[in-house]
Amino acid sequence: MTLAGEVIVRSTSDTRSFGAGLGSLLRSGDIVVLSGDLGAGKTVLAQGIGTALGVEDAVTSPTFVLIRSHKGRVALHHADMWRLGTLDEMGDLGIAQMVEDGGVAVVEWGERAIPVLGSDYLLVEIDMPCPDEAHQHPRDQHPRDQHPWDDQGRGEPGGEECRRIRMIAVGECWTTRALDLAALATRWTGGAALQ
Ligand SMILES: Nc1ncnc2c1ncn2[C@@H]1O[C@H](COP(=O)(O)OP(=O)(O)OP(=O)(O)O)[C@@H](O)[C@H]1O
Ligand SMILES: [Mg+2]
Repeated sequence: MTLAGEVIVRSTSDTRSFGAGLGSLLRSGDIVVLSGDLGAGKTVLAQGIGTALGVEDAVTSPTFVLIRSHKGRVALHHADMWRLGTLDEMGDLGIAQMVEDGGVAVVEWGERAIPVLGSDYLLVEIDMPCPDEAHQHPRDQHPRDQHPWDDQGRGEPGGEECRRIRMIAVGECWTTRALDLAALATRWTGGAALQ
């Protein structure tokens, strides 16, 4: 298990765009486990991944259907474990088998299903609100109350809020790609997040 990268996202579109960056690193057979509280932005991140995989139809929450497969250059199997209580139920969805047959799986509340997902997966943790940003953005010299994004309603219901996204590589398939993930995080922190 390796913490491969960590970024701060400041809006819904930031999260979607970071998801697209992550999606561009994915390949058939990959499993991405999304962890984070209700409303953290797991579905938003999955939408970005879908865009990068060439999915054209809308990627919406699979909470009630449990799993939805989208065609793309690479198929996206988008699942949500929130309503499932037992590992047997989660195993019955057959996610590990699906990606063996092709495509990428993105599993919301996936930390609950880890025992049935196999030994290799990328764990993506979305934390809200952001932990103290002083530690996250040492390059950012502006006082917090002068940030332009504070005008966008940070902390208000329905407003744009800050999230911390961490990518944790688990298993050989992912630890060997940790440098690519770290490079993505560095690119993001060095440019995209500050656009
Ligand atoms: N920085 C941000 N990143 C992502 N979403 C954000 C951000 N700031 C505000 N939001 C809002 O938070 C909500 C995230 O919703 P989303 O459905 O993606 O959450 P979720 O983690 O999938 O929730 P659930 O556990 O219910 O499936 C959206 O309404 C989005 O606009
Ligand atoms: Mg969701």
